[in-house]
Amino acid sequence: MLLVSIAAFLAGAMASPVHKDSERPLQIDPSEHAPPPPPPAPELIEISRLPLPPVVADENEGACTVAVNPSRTGCTGKVASLQGGTFLPDDNHVIAKVRFAGAPAAPDPASIYTGEHVIIVKTDNSTFPNGDPWKCLTCGIPKENNHAIPVESPDYAYPQAFADGKRVMAGFYIIDCGEYDLVSPDCVPERTSIYQIRLENTTDGSGAGAAIRELRIHPDQVHLGLNSFTFSGNSLGQSTFFARLQFNAAPTTGLPLGPRYDLAHVNHLMHSGLSPPIYAVGDELHFNHSAITVGELRGFSGTGNEVTYVGYPVESCNIDVFAADLRTGALRRLTAHPGYVDPVQMSPDDRLMVIMDTRGSGRTEFMDGMRGIPPIVDLLTTTVCSSVRNNGQRRFFQPWLLDRYGDRGDYYGQEINGASTGFAGSGGFDDPEWNGGADPWFSNDGTRIVYYQVQTIPPACGGENPLPCSNSSEPGGRRERLMIAHLVERSPLPARNVMPMPDVIPWAVPYVPGETVPAPAYLNLKSGNYTLKGEVSGSASIEIIENDSKTAIQMIKVGFDNFSDDGLATLSGTQNITRNVEGFTINTLDWYSNLTREGIWPSRQFTSPAGFHMSIYVLTNLFEANGTLVTIAEGLTFRQPQDGT
Ligand SMILES: *[C@@H]1O[C@H](CO)[C@@H](O)[C@H](O)[C@H]1NC(C)=O
Ligand SMILES: *[C@@H]1O[C@H](CO)[C@@H](O)[C@H](O)[C@H]1NC(C)=O
Ligand SMILES: *[C@@H]1O[C@H](CO)[C@@H](O)[C@H](O)[C@H]1NC(C)=O
Ligand SMILES: *[C@@H]1O[C@H](CO)[C@@H](O)[C@H](O)[C@H]1NC(C)=O
Ligand SMILES: *[C@@H]1O[C@H](CO)[C@@H](O)[C@H](O)[C@H]1NC(C)=O
Ligand SMILES: *[C@@H]1O[C@H](CO)[C@@H](O)[C@H](O)[C@H]1NC(C)=O
Ligand SMILES: *[C@@H]1O[C@H](CO)[C@@H](O)[C@H](O)[C@H]1NC(C)=O
Ligand SMILES: *[C@@H]1O[C@H](CO)[C@@H](O)[C@H](O)[C@H]1NC(C)=O
Ligand SMILES: *[C@@H]1O[C@H](CO)[C@@H](O)[C@H](O)[C@H]1NC(C)=O
Ligand SMILES: *[C@@H]1O[C@H](CO)[C@@H](O)[C@H](O)[C@H]1NC(C)=O
Repeated sequence: MLLVSIAAFLAGAMASPVHKDSERPLQIDPSEHAPPPPPPAPELIEISRLPLPPVVADENEGACTVAVNPSRTGCTGKVASLQGGTFLPDDNHVIAKVRFAGAPAAPDPASIYTGEHVIIVKTDNSTFPNGDPWKCLTCGIPKENNHAIPVESPDYAYPQAFADGKRVMAGFYIIDCGEYDLVSPDCVPERTSIYQIRLENTTDGSGAGAAIRELRIHPDQVHLGLNSFTFSGNSLGQSTFFARLQFNAAPTTGLPLGPRYDLAHVNHLMHSGLSPPIYAVGDELHFNHSAITVGELRGFSGTGNEVTYVGYPVESCNIDVFAADLRTGALRRLTAHPGYVDPVQMSPDDRLMVIMDTRGSGRTEFMDGMRGIPPIVDLLTTTVCSSVRNNGQRRFFQPWLLDRYGDRGDYYGQEINGASTGFAGSGGFDDPEWNGGADPWFSNDGTRIVYYQVQTIPPACGGENPLPCSNSSEPGGRRERLMIAHLVERSPLPARNVMPMPDVIPWAVPYVPGETVPAPAYLNLKSGNYTLKGEVSGSASIEIIENDSKTAIQMIKVGFDNFSDDGLATLSGTQNITRNVEGFTINTLDWYSNLTREGIWPSRQFTSPAGFHMSIYVLTNLFEANGTLVTIAEGLTFRQPQDGT
């Protein structure tokens, strides 16, 4: 308890130095070069929790009795893989996914409430005709209505409603109630169909298509954005796409060989053919701050004009989100504060954004609390810097509200629930042990935000972990909760009128099924000595060494000499980092650093004399290190987390 309180205190106290924006202009789009308006004053936000199915303590067959749920419409365990989704068009409902548990055996009619499903939840304290404030959309759909490739347990991740109120996308499925509104009593399982979304990945159209993930509906309702992991050599990469959703009633090749949605006019948003963020001209290295690097697609702006993504850092180890205009490629850096951000959603009019970020938790500043380090070693460190955001299942995310212009001056947004100053273990809406998940979503009228939280559970607390585990004070001891934040001072926005996007994104590269895309050029910088000139003063001398098979960078050494891009501060000192990759998912870094920043926001970053050696297993994100890496920024000392915490 004590440790957590200190962390929370530190997090509150550190607001001044590292929360300031970088010396780089935040707005990279030249059309937005006018100085941004002054930051908004904090606004009044009211938070409440949304209802969910009742909880059974034991998840055995039949545990969900009539005593627990008198309407016989299912129960969940305390942990139910909850994920909040979007609002339906009327803004009085949101969709979510949960895993039902404790159902009786068939042929009991309640036996359909088992496993992962999409539900609709009332947001106005009203109920469906049976008295429940929720309704399961996918429970009990007859087999003949399910046109997807059969799987034991479908994944209904990131549920999103279409604007027609009759269809939902969840995972890579579309759940369709035909002519009926999803919320209407007429939308029953017998009238509901499930179709699979397929991205062709063979030249002859055979097979089940590419493994696709994190699909997002474009506001024009006819295009999608999505990600797909790639495995090449020893490295895990990701392809990102924008495509048109096209119903195919009677396909002649590929699986499923029945009605399905195909992805047509597919654009590659990240491709070796696009301009790289770092490139060499002779022995000089250059950054291109207009380069679009869609490392992971996050969604679209509310107007649909921009695609949002997690991209190559602008400041070393500081993971940010960006927005690129789909038509023009104009780029905006949406966030700048140290920390890891990934979920981002804009309001329907693009004037606000809500992000899930580690800012305020003090989690990552030992790596990224020194501002303005050019992201050179990030060619090696990005995976590791990103992975520090979590401790296993514990995320350090909280929802933050920012205006369109993002972090600037002393403004770094408004924490929606005040968790960075909340009391750990209190169970309140500001309890920092309750962490946010992906994604938060705005209502269609822009006055509400729905988000969900997960309580820290073993092994991320308790046992050898210095963080004690707290009991949950949520109904039934639930470890997850679905929250709604009401921006009470805002007036409802008028309905959106989104023009359909063109199928061809001019700056992207057309996708060809079956192709192999080479790694982006910047990842293949060759062994050699390079110079990076500061835009105002000094330079950095850089040595890059590839591994023995010359297929990946293994070591980067940087020496900064009075380096400055803005004349407000200078960097001096050295970085020397070696990476070893084992399999796809284990990254180890041998990290030596001794950097000093003088001028505004003075700081130091240094490793212990024998270096800092860190390993992270990307699939579990468990932190393990020997030695230390410390950042001291304006008198505050930021240290790495203890191993396994
Ligand atoms: C629903 O009820 C809760 C608890 O009484 C209240 O805080 C919340 O404002 C109500 N929501 C609406 C939309 O009326
Ligand atoms: C297509 O994607 C599937 C995964 O769904 C994969 O197993 C297969 O190897 C891919 N085929 C090609 C040609 O890339
Ligand atoms: C070089 O790195 C690549 C990518 O990580 C890996 O596939 C290859 O095995 C490495 N070669 C050597 C000799 O380490
Ligand atoms: C920088 O990236 C932009 C956007 O992709 C591109 O138009 C421009 O040509 C690139 N500049 C250089 C010097 O590569
Ligand atoms: C949590 O609840 C259990 C069972 O009621 C109780 O034994 C335990 O002391 C509680 N733990 C805390 C930290 O309050
Ligand atoms: C970089 O320069 C140093 C000093 O001249 C030299 O010893 C080293 O081999 C060079 N490194 C590479 C990768 O060429
Ligand atoms: C270092 O750079 C600053 C500007 O960033 C300049 O004013 C100063 O003269 C430089 N110092 C040296 C020793 O070059
Ligand atoms: C990196 O730094 C460590 C510790 O100072 C040193 O042992 C190692 O030789 C350095 N590597 C290079 C390539 O300079
Ligand atoms: C770090 O750099 C400072 C300033 O250049 C130097 O005085 C100090 O000895 C260095 N520390 C280590 C451990 O190399
Ligand atoms: C830390 O040191 C121990 C003992 O030498 C070693 O087993 C472990 O692999 C090291 N871990 C890292 C991340 O370097």
